[in-house]
Amino acid sequence: MKAIVVIVVLTISLVAVPTPAALAELSSSEGSVLFDLHCAGCHPHGGNIIRRGRTLKLDALKRRDIASQEAIAEIARHGIGQMGGYEDVLGASGDQLVAEWIWQQAQKAWIQG
Ligand code: HEC
Repeated sequence: MKAIVVIVVLTISLVAVPTPAALAELSSSEGSVLFDLHCAGCHPHGGNIIRRGRTLKLDALKRRDIASQEAIAEIARHGIGQMGGYEDVLGASGDQLVAEWIWQQAQKAWIQG
């Protein structure tokens, strides 16, 4: 009987404590949701419907020296050129989450975004 209790408790604690991989998955899906809500309107699949050259694709980011999560997060917060900032709607860590997701997609050529 005791053994069963131990097994049950162990199983529950294994399921309840998310692994780092699961946490990363969670934050990346949050970034994806933020992107869909606030960025995808003008940047569908990492493109740019307003200024065609200013995309979120790796080549464009490199060309403009913004090929990093931090540089993208800064633009998400404060905007750039014709684009306004989204600090107010992204919330406390939303800029980092959405930038992390964008940076991942850029490195994967936006095949999933
Ligand atoms: C209303 C349309 C619009 C929305 C919404 C929008 N952007 Fe932009 N974005 C632009 C435009 C226009 C530019 C080009 C700005 C310029 O250089 O004049 C741009 C440029 C960028 C760039 C630089 C790309 C490059 O190649 O130079 C990044 C990074 C970026 N946006 C990220 C974001 C993120 C992150 C969000 C969501 C939080 C977002 N944008 C939402 C219109 C938008």
